[in-house]
Amino acid sequence: MFLSHLTLEHFRNYRALSHDFAAPFTLIQGRNAQGKTNLLEAIHYLATSKSSHARAENEVVGWSAAGEPIPYSRIRGVVQQRAGDVELEILFSYRGDAGSYAKQVRVNNVNRRGVDLIGNLRAVLFLPEDVVLVSGSPAERRRYLDIALCQIDRNYTQHLSHYQKVTTQRNSLLRQLREENANYRDPGIVAQLRFWDEQLVEHGAFVLARRYGFLARLDPAARGLHRELSAGLETLQLVYQPSFDPGFLGEADYRRLANGDITPHTGRLPDSSLTVAALQETFQKKLESRRSRELAAGATLYGPHRDDLAFLVNERDLRTYGSRGQQRTGALALKLAEVQAMTAETGESPILLLDDVMSELDAQRRATLLAALHGVPQAVVTTTDWEDFSPAFRAQAQLLHVDGGVLCPASPS
Ligand SMILES: Nc1ncnc2c1ncn2[C@@H]1O[C@H](COP(=O)(O)OP(=O)(O)OP(=O)(O)O)[C@@H](O)[C@H]1O
Ligand SMILES: [Mg+2]
Repeated sequence: MFLSHLTLEHFRNYRALSHDFAAPFTLIQGRNAQGKTNLLEAIHYLATSKSSHARAENEVVGWSAAGEPIPYSRIRGVVQQRAGDVELEILFSYRGDAGSYAKQVRVNNVNRRGVDLIGNLRAVLFLPEDVVLVSGSPAERRRYLDIALCQIDRNYTQHLSHYQKVTTQRNSLLRQLREENANYRDPGIVAQLRFWDEQLVEHGAFVLARRYGFLARLDPAARGLHRELSAGLETLQLVYQPSFDPGFLGEADYRRLANGDITPHTGRLPDSSLTVAALQETFQKKLESRRSRELAAGATLYGPHRDDLAFLVNERDLRTYGSRGQQRTGALALKLAEVQAMTAETGESPILLLDDVMSELDAQRRATLLAALHGVPQAVVTTTDWEDFSPAFRAQAQLLHVDGGVLCPASPS
């Protein structure tokens, strides 16, 4: 896929932008605080219908919108796909009352749900702060997996959303039972918990199986890229760390998972005897055998919302032992691997968005990164300094300069 056009109105510091992407590589240079990250955030928004880093959606509405009769913000993009062009739009409009904004999604000018946007444009975004994927808490890594998988699979988006709702409700029941000092053997209580277990297990097993399948693609890709980035000196391993043993951690199962998607309707993993149903059974048994612990904690202790993903380099945990540079390299390898895994899953390469990625990389890593770019149909890359990119790369790219939210053609010499 290729994003051929982007329009922004009152998005962050872009009052009005209309831009045609003319080449596979776009290199945008600008001083600090001119709008480099904001532009990539806007493109990523069209892919995921969520902000990559804003805490509240309202944050992205440009201050310039205050001058409009009804303040609004708009992101619009045209994506070239095999089947033709698709026009995507996200509109935030002022509600008036509570000072909040309503979000509206349109695909080819027809109002749609946010989830319908997904899959029309797939993007992998790498921000400087993505080092937290390695150094930060497990929640960061779960969020990462969820964002990646939601772009690939609408079923995942739906199961995840159900799962999150069920977890919240199950947690409040467990909290309430704890306060009441309830007995977990009481048949009435067992029945109540069973009701929530069933839904937790149904959606949780899907989320879990899908994450395993994705990891089975991501891990070998990340290992190869990381080896190149580190000039063959380091071996990266991505290891999923489940909160309960799902019962299929063998190498062979792992490989089989990589060979096929889950067919959502039958729940089967093709080419494998493993089924989501088997996983559900294991999950249910775990819950049943841990009733007293969950009641004592007043919370759901098992399931994909408690899982983690470990980054091992030469068998040591990068989170604990990695240098800053090693952690950054690990995060970069993950993102580049995501491009490959997404391509394998969907049959189409996502676009790659790299924010200020060169500044902290040594020459070896820079060269590997530029080589990896040649595998994608479109990359939009930002920098503060033209010199961070080789003349050969610059010669191939559409070069732009951004200044105060205004984008213009550039010639850096
Ligand atoms: N809602 C908003 N409305 C208007 N301006 C905003 C809004 N949110 C952020 N900005 C401004 O946008 C400017 C550009 O931000 P951005 O993060 O894109 O800069 P950048 O070019 O990536 O800079 P750096 O090189 O420091 O990373 C900032 O000065 C910020 O204050
Ligand atoms: Mg920035």
